[in-house]
Amino acid sequence: MIKVIDNKFIRVDTKNNTLTFYVIGELPEIVYYGKKLKKDTDFTPFLGITDITGVDMRDYVLSQFGKEDYKEPSIKIKNSNGTFVSDFKFVKFELNKPLINNSSLPLSRNKLENICFTLKDETNNITLEIYYSFFKNSDVVAVNSRLINEGTLPIYLNKIPSLQLELKSDYFNIYTFDGGWAKERIRHESTLRGGLFINESRTGSSSADHNPFVLLKNKRGYYGFNLMYSSNHKTSIEIDAYKHARIISGINDFMFEYKINPNDIFIAPEAFMIYEKNEDMLSLEYHDFIQNHIVHPKYKERIRPVLMNNWEGTNFDFTKQKIIDIAKVAKDVGAELFVLDDGWFGHRDGDNSSLGDWFDYKEKTGGLDKLAKEIKDLGLEFGIWVEPEMISEDSELYKNHKEYAMLIPNRKPHLHRNQLMLDLTNEEVKEYVLNSLRNVLNLTKANYVKWDYNRNMSDVYSSKYSSNEYYHRYIMNLYEIMDTITKEYEDVLFEGCAAGGSRFDLGILYYMPQIWTSDNTDPYDRIFIQTGTSYAYHQVNMGAHVSASPNWFTKRTSSLETRFNVACGGNLGYELDPTKFNEEEKNVVKNQIEFYKQNRDIFQFGDIAYLKSVYKNGIGGFITLSKDHKKGFVVITSSSLKNDISLKLPLLSNKKEYRLVGRDIHFTCILKGNTLKNINDIFTKIVDKSTYNLYSVMLSIEEI
Ligand code: DGJ
Repeated sequence: MIKVIDNKFIRVDTKNNTLTFYVIGELPEIVYYGKKLKKDTDFTPFLGITDITGVDMRDYVLSQFGKEDYKEPSIKIKNSNGTFVSDFKFVKFELNKPLINNSSLPLSRNKLENICFTLKDETNNITLEIYYSFFKNSDVVAVNSRLINEGTLPIYLNKIPSLQLELKSDYFNIYTFDGGWAKERIRHESTLRGGLFINESRTGSSSADHNPFVLLKNKRGYYGFNLMYSSNHKTSIEIDAYKHARIISGINDFMFEYKINPNDIFIAPEAFMIYEKNEDMLSLEYHDFIQNHIVHPKYKERIRPVLMNNWEGTNFDFTKQKIIDIAKVAKDVGAELFVLDDGWFGHRDGDNSSLGDWFDYKEKTGGLDKLAKEIKDLGLEFGIWVEPEMISEDSELYKNHKEYAMLIPNRKPHLHRNQLMLDLTNEEVKEYVLNSLRNVLNLTKANYVKWDYNRNMSDVYSSKYSSNEYYHRYIMNLYEIMDTITKEYEDVLFEGCAAGGSRFDLGILYYMPQIWTSDNTDPYDRIFIQTGTSYAYHQVNMGAHVSASPNWFTKRTSSLETRFNVACGGNLGYELDPTKFNEEEKNVVKNQIEFYKQNRDIFQFGDIAYLKSVYKNGIGGFITLSKDHKKGFVVITSSSLKNDISLKLPLLSNKKEYRLVGRDIHFTCILKGNTLKNINDIFTKIVDKSTYNLYSVMLSIEEI
């Protein structure tokens, strides 16, 4: 896959693409990145630049302040004398050099090959290694850097690149996935014809505001960029007067100034870039990559249990009996895991107390260990909610260890959801969090943990470290905690959560193979949230629950079938009070779960493409197929029963024939090719004509 040509070029072929570096000169540069080239010399038309000296015309792998380059630099160092000039120069390249990681930063698993470029700033004696890693049967390229201070004086790192890619392009359509609570990863399309575009988070998490994933489109195709980092991130795209676009991705330089003492090493998180001709193919590549190289291998094909969670059903207001009653119906309808959500600890009857007090609220639970056992005795697995990074002012922990909270001395802290954050940069706090989790897991012998995080950072402070280092140190210690606990309790399934989906990123997925997508469970909104999420993340990573109608948050109504159909586009669960089901609803849910279990391999691990028509004409949904694309399901959603349009179904071949059969409607047809004409014929078959905000159909697909 990696080939050195004449000691001048390094050509790398991935599954469908070629990436070529020119390795003579001041810095290595990328001379070709795109679809696979036939001959070694095919990239020469893209050259011609190798004898031009202006930095604007070069596609280097690094940019720095101090010469002629005034664009956004990828590295910024404050030297010990207070200056900002760097002069990294190319020293050598090595193939398959192991990336030594003595930090808690998660890095992608199971790499096939890599190229390491060593650069050096002689004046300050700083070495920068830039790694490009490649994977078997994948188009994803991982890029990150490792900085070593070999000098005798400390330096301050203001910015370090994960990735820099320069492309010859003077325009892009940029897709970003932005939002807020209950509106996560809503796709926005911007155009950049020149100038600078930034996608970043400043919340201390990867955030619901702007997911780290960015997609660029130009006439050549699609370029995807994602970052394995759960804190402040930044991706910038800058187009200059010479039609060169510089893309930089990495830790956000906002408030960032990290001291690097002599002999210290700093490793930047990995960024993952990809090029594809087609956006659905790009997403499939990312999905496979997550399963093969991000989540723990044991989860690669491990089917996920259908769960019942009590949160939307009861909120904080439950008794032991209520939980048992819910669990009994859950078992009856075929759920496999019961999850006890917020409210089981300290004296937690609302969101204003007890975070940090991870001990049993016996008056409510009747003894958590007994409750967990009774649920297991019903034949269900038992799962539990925790929010270990937080502290309430009304808690034993705050009374005894106020110093554990993230608080700025002599300043009234900003509360969100009535809570403060713990200072995870304090080693004692780290131990407290670990021990609290151990106690909960040992007491309940839980099979599953939902790890919540319900606020962003504001009072950023540590008595030991500069606030400029805080965000990064926090996340590194969080990764260490997650690493320790997930290893100690290796049979427990962990699900990430952050007030819904505010920390939906590859860093969390490294430890927790599924994440709660959003607190918004209304299928009308969910279809947008799941479509946006599916661009970069696999469907089994996305928690998707059937909840009550009207939806508690949006007040919109939808049928039980539509709520199920939409939830099948993720990792299915139910989140309501099932004791309120009438007999008919109970039977419907029983059938849904049975059907889902029978086809779980396709719903959870098939190739999926969400319908992008949702952004054009509101017709949404998804198609999910077995890996050989011979069978599967399509879900089509619409806010109206009248849909006089035709729909091109992604992933299907236009040269083949398929049989389509309705799941809950009487509809059969033979489809020649991949275009469903006049989907009105299908929607008129919906029996229940109640006035809903969203209608849907699910059809099975089989190649004939
Ligand atoms: C936010 C989560 O997203 C919800 O699912 C629920 O667990 C609540 N927190 C509990 O406080």
